[in-house]
Parts: sequence; structure tokens; C-alpha cells
Amino acid sequence: MGHLEALRQRVLARLVEWEAAGLKRSLRPPSGIDLSSNDYLGLATHPRLVRRFVEALRIYGCGATASRLLRGHREIFTDVERRFAAFKGTEAALYFASGYAANLGVLTTFLESGDVVFSDERNHASLIDGMRLTRARRVIFPHRDVAALARLLRSEQGPGQKFLVTESLFSMDGDRAPLREYAALCRETQTALIVDEAHAVGIYGERGSGLIEEMGVADAVFLSINTAGKALGVCGAFVAGPAWAVEYLIQRARPFVFSTAPPPALMAALDEAITLIIEEPERRARVRANARRLREQLVARGIVLPLEDSPIIPVILGESERAVAVAAALQEEGFDVRAIRPPTVPAGTARLRVSVNVQVDETIAARFASALARILKSC
Ligand SMILES: Cc1ncc(COP(=O)(O)O)c(C=O)c1O
Repeated sequence: MGHLEALRQRVLARLVEWEAAGLKRSLRPPSGIDLSSNDYLGLATHPRLVRRFVEALRIYGCGATASRLLRGHREIFTDVERRFAAFKGTEAALYFASGYAANLGVLTTFLESGDVVFSDERNHASLIDGMRLTRARRVIFPHRDVAALARLLRSEQGPGQKFLVTESLFSMDGDRAPLREYAALCRETQTALIVDEAHAVGIYGERGSGLIEEMGVADAVFLSINTAGKALGVCGAFVAGPAWAVEYLIQRARPFVFSTAPPPALMAALDEAITLIIEEPERRARVRANARRLREQLVARGIVLPLEDSPIIPVILGESERAVAVAAALQEEGFDVRAIRPPTVPAGTARLRVSVNVQVDETIAARFASALARILKSC
């Protein structure tokens, strides 16, 4: 390994810098009350999902053995994709191995040289990476700023296709994109609207299909990306949209074409997740009620929070060291809350990202709010 010495020294120096800036992460399994996972509906361990997964494993085995376009395809992928599309209210859907892969796939497939893509400054890394891999010109607009976006979109007169890319519920701030205003702007300026529903699918809307449904903007959306590893409790992501666009993804999306298909058994678990979301709307109602109650408890103790109806509650603490210290103190008291630091969030806005799931009842909310208020006084 002597020939790697220079590289080793360089990497060690980077790690030292990273640690000195308070940014070094560590791998830590769950412990304590879950206030940090994205398992909002509690489906990841639901006995019905587990049973369907195990039964399907016996039928399909562990691995798909090849890419979907080769020997890796099974009918169950298409069956559940069709079901997801019906649930979402679109013509078609395609399953990717992760939300990250789906975002890369969508953006690199549709954005071409000469196109312009408008992107919210707080978009998730997977959207940013997807855009960076294309030759489209990127225009970053201030977070949720409709007026700024309108000016930019209207002044863009080139011949290329325009795209607008946004999350519907922002993963680190828990706030919503103004989807109705975006829908109107996209119609006016012939812009293709791409919406990442990672944290909204399963939670919002009458059917539970997300904020696109809740805001009534389905007609204006080109594609949505719906991760299946959060409220749906499994993993992967469904891209939903018109049949012609999904057909193009099957032909051209590199993370889909050049990657082994995910285990087919996952689709049985996801089928059950969709059933539970449809059959048990009270689950998502409970998540939203739990989040409202926890917000009230925190605000009552003087903690400043944005006013949102969302299970993601950001408690902004400023410097990374402080966020880490507060998270560690909460951990000592049995609460699993994680510190989120730059570059995931902008410098100076390190925070606790409190995410509320179906189990966070009144007692937990009161205990957590008291513990956090007390810890904040000494940290
Ligand atoms: C907004 C958003 N998009 C995409 C992803 C990526 O999804 P996945 O974890 O399935 O790769 C995440 C979270 O990880 C996310 O928060």
C-alpha cells in the first residue's frame, strides 16, 4: 500500500479539517425514542408489510439477477408501478432503486443542452447532482420566492425547454413549495414542472398521494418523484407521470438501464404499503396531529419555530457544535434526534431536524419539549 501514501495523507488532512469544523459524522444505529427517522406512518416494521415481504422472498429469492431491461424484470414490478400510478393519478410510474437514483435518472434523461432549469436554492443534493450532470443551464432562485421565479421565467426567451425543479415539502425545513403559484407560472411560460414528493407522499392529500394532490395541481405537473423509503416504509422511488415520459425513462434513464433491478420482493411490501395508506387515512391524520401538538408544546416553552403543518420540525441552532451538543444531550435523555449540519443545510443554520411519526403521542411530546427547553438553556 506504500504507493497510496500521498493519497492517504491527503485524505487524513481533509478528515482533520472536517472534524475541526465540527462536521465529522459518525454511523450510529437507532437508540431511544424515534424523532429522526422518516418512517412517518410506522410502516417499516408493520407486520403486514413484513409478511408480504417474506412471502415474496420465498417466491422471488433475494436478488433480481440482472437489470430490468435484461433478465431482472418480473411482472410484480409492472403490477405495483401501475398501482402506484393509479394511486398518484398519473398514466404511468417507474420504480428506481432509490430516490437519489430516480432524481439523477429523471434530470439526466430530460434535460438537454440548450434547456434551462430553474431550481430552488434549498433543493435536495440528489436534485442538485442530477442537474449538474446535464448540459442544461441552471438558474437557482431564492427559496420559495414566487416573485423572483416569475421574473426569471418570464425573461427567459430562448428556444430551449424550461424546467422548474422543486421539492414539495422541503426535507430540512419542513416547509412547502407554493405549488399553486408554480403551476400557474409553468402553464403561462410552458415550463415542465418536476416535483420531488419525497417527504409528502403518504402524508398529504385525501388519498394520501402527496402535496400535488392536496394542492390540486396534478394537471400542471410533468413528473413527480415519490420516494418509497420514507412514509412508505421500504426503499426506492416511483417516478410518476405521462406514459410517454415513463417510456422514455425506461429507454434512457441511466440509473435504471445500467443497474441491477432491486429485489422484486420489495414490490410486495410496497404493494401492502399502498394498501395501508389507502385503507387507513387515520394514520396520516395522526402524524399531522402529533406534529401540530409537538409544535405547540415547543412554542409554549419559548422555542421559535416556523409555522407549518408538517411532520418535519427544524429547530435552528446556528453553529454545528451547538447542534451536536444539544442532540447528544437529548440522546442521553432517551430521544433519538440528529443534528443536521452544513453542507446539508446552509452555513450558520445547523439544526435539530425533529421528525414526527405516528407514535409521537402527547406524553412523548410533553417530555421531549421539556427536555429540549431545559437543554437549550445550558447548551
Ligand atoms: C427531498 C429528497 N429527495 C430525494 C431523497 C433521496 O431519496 P432516497 O433516500 O430514497 O435515495 C431524499 C432523502 O434521502 C430527500 O429528502
